[in-house]
Amino acid sequence: MVTPVELLIYPDDCDAGGRLTAAALLRLLDRARWEQLGGAASGQARSDSFPAVRKTTLEFQSHAGAGDRLRVETSLVAMGRTSFTVRHVARGEDGAIVAEAELAFDCLNSRAEPAPLPPEFVQAFGRRPSVRASETRHLAVRGLAVALDLQGDGRPILFVHGFPLDRTVWRQVMATLTGWKRIAPDLRGMGLSDAPGKYTMAEYADDLAALLDVLHVDQAVVCGLSMGGYIAFELLRRHKTRVGALVLVNTRAEADTEEGRRRRDEMIGVVQRDGPAALADALVPQLLTPWSVTAQPQVVEHLKAMIAANPTTGIIGALEAMRDRPDSTALLGSIDVPTLVIAGREDRLIPAATSRALADAIPEAQLTVIPEAGHLAPLEQPVQTSRVIAEFLEALA
Ligand code: MLT
Repeated sequence: MVTPVELLIYPDDCDAGGRLTAAALLRLLDRARWEQLGGAASGQARSDSFPAVRKTTLEFQSHAGAGDRLRVETSLVAMGRTSFTVRHVARGEDGAIVAEAELAFDCLNSRAEPAPLPPEFVQAFGRRPSVRASETRHLAVRGLAVALDLQGDGRPILFVHGFPLDRTVWRQVMATLTGWKRIAPDLRGMGLSDAPGKYTMAEYADDLAALLDVLHVDQAVVCGLSMGGYIAFELLRRHKTRVGALVLVNTRAEADTEEGRRRRDEMIGVVQRDGPAALADALVPQLLTPWSVTAQPQVVEHLKAMIAANPTTGIIGALEAMRDRPDSTALLGSIDVPTLVIAGREDRLIPAATSRALADAIPEAQLTVIPEAGHLAPLEQPVQTSRVIAEFLEALA
């Protein structure tokens, strides 16, 4: 997804009843693409390649009127040599979806012949995504629209992302685990999922159990990254039978210390004052190793985009949920499912020694420490992380 943009609805965009019209919405989406893609996808490319709309589908889910602000999220559905499809989700200020649209474009040159995609467009979206955005879908779960990537068939594995990330942190790992039904949702308040008002570890865990219900999945391997691990512990407390095995990545069982709680409150202040982008700048050096920061610009870019695109309400909700989460150390001795603990050797937030202690406290758990990984092993070292998870999964079969 490229960075979302906010657009204001003017009275001219509305019908006599004061409601945003379909034609005006398409104009607004065109403007959003212009801002997000530098004109490349709006027929203003500098090269001799002009995207022409071939097909549009548009669905209003609620109504908006003059004075309302729309937050337009744009993601790539498909990209060919001379054509592409994008999906827009326009949300109101409360985060609820106002409309969704999918537009397919053919690129033509000035002689109206098929032409390769404008380079600015390819640049804006980066390389072809390893999981096509068309595999991202929304499901109604406990009254929320939950976005998820769903891939493959086989035994289910549920990927739970960390803070303040989204499901795409798992994309490279997911792409390698063929033979498994891979399920990666955006938690409430993150990514493309709805952002309601209530956030606790229990709410997150109940959402995931309800998502498994919707998908008719009785039990899954639960793979949680950092905050995703805190949620995995809550799933064990509240929905034990749903957890068939555990992969705990860059996470810990202890609750926040007093000092930790104070830092959560400070971070809430930063997000309220300066917005998610400021949080992205502050967090990158804490989450990634110095090597990742200098040698993996695409990882830095992906990380910043994930953080900056998350809604303020969802980020603050997650900070409160983590601040107030229960201690899970007493639970560890009773975990009776196969468990893999993965640590980053250079994780500054959760040192490898903490992960070692976590693995020691869980009967039968195994530990792998990934070199040159900080707090985000799946993003920084996807190949090694995938290999370790694949080996663990093979042994379960
Ligand atoms: C995460 O990666 O989910 C967070 O860094 C966890 C935390 O802040 O405790």
